[in-house]
Amino acid sequence: MSAPAKTGGLVVENLTVAYPLATATVLGVDGVSFTVRPGERLGVVGESGSGKSTTALALLRLIRPPGRIAGGRVMLNGTDLRGLDEAGMRAARLRVVSYIPQGAMNSLNPVKTVAAQMRDAILDHGERVAPDAIARALEGVDLPAGTARLFPHQLSGGMKQRVCIAIGMLLRPQLIIADEPTSALDVVTQRQVMGTLGRLQTETGACLILIGHDMGLMVQFVDRLAVMYAGRLVELGGIEEVFAAPRHPYTRMLIDSVPTFENRGHFVGIPGTTPSLARLPPGCAFAPRCRFAMELCRQVVPPSREVAPGRSVACHLEDVPLAPPA
Ligand SMILES: Nc1ncnc2c1ncn2[C@@H]1O[C@H](COP(=O)(O)OP(=O)(O)OP(=O)(O)O)[C@@H](O)[C@H]1O
Ligand code: SF4
Ligand SMILES: [Mg+2]
Repeated sequence: MSAPAKTGGLVVENLTVAYPLATATVLGVDGVSFTVRPGERLGVVGESGSGKSTTALALLRLIRPPGRIAGGRVMLNGTDLRGLDEAGMRAARLRVVSYIPQGAMNSLNPVKTVAAQMRDAILDHGERVAPDAIARALEGVDLPAGTARLFPHQLSGGMKQRVCIAIGMLLRPQLIIADEPTSALDVVTQRQVMGTLGRLQTETGACLILIGHDMGLMVQFVDRLAVMYAGRLVELGGIEEVFAAPRHPYTRMLIDSVPTFENRGHFVGIPGTTPSLARLPPGCAFAPRCRFAMELCRQVVPPSREVAPGRSVACHLEDVPLAPPA
């Protein structure tokens, strides 16, 4: 028997996911490392295609072949998730790790009531359905008990998303991964649903990973932020420190793209496009879009280095913090 890990929470080391294409193998996730302590909330941001969902799916071992986890370690409260057999991993999903996927509310079964879907989720994991389990789960996400009798088409978007969160929390998981859980909702409903998710997480002390694009939501909700670019984790740190003094030019641009009162609520796009993983430039993948790019950047991939406790950046620049563009 292996010795129990001393570190509680989630520890991800060097996680790598490979997708074989016709001409080459691309890395959807390339050597990503981070930790999430029990009760902590980690936000993961990055443009479309940066590897956020692939990271989540790899933690759950749900990468579809021919894609595969090519390396790395995933420990959750001392359990090596990569070491579990298929049956063990199936049991761990929902019971230990709960995934609220992108577009979750559209994945509710249209021909089953909310109660039937919740009951199925419990039974699937070999658990007994306590008489008041469903009413309590709905109450936990601020839905009336009568919601149990309804079909998905009878629910608003916000209610559907609350049902998905209730299903995700049924077995009190140790890790919750929410992939853009509120992107289809209006801002007010978004904040309410996130409030509910946050409260449930605080009550259970679970680790939480929130994947999204909305930097404003991240500031309000998470403790730490991970920034991904082209499959790599380029910056990691406390949300306040990262916002006050981003160390990576890409993080700086993401922050500057947030609509503000000063720019009259306009979304400022990031110049250039995300690179194709099959044609990544040598060196830093962000170099073609970076106003600080140096010769070294075009030749050598910047390694991730710890610049302060709990703060790391993968950039050749030494100077900090980066000033906003004039
Ligand atoms: N089945 C697959 N085969 C090949 N490449 C894939 C596959 N699934 C994902 N990828 C690649 O992995 C990269 C990361 O995709 P991923 O879905 O993780 O991005 P994301 O950050 O979640 O984006 P979004 O914000 O759009 O949800 C993408 O560049 C994509 O092309
Ligand atoms: S390594 Fe160079 S190109 Fe990459 S983000 Fe830093 S300064 Fe820009
Ligand atoms: Mg995604």
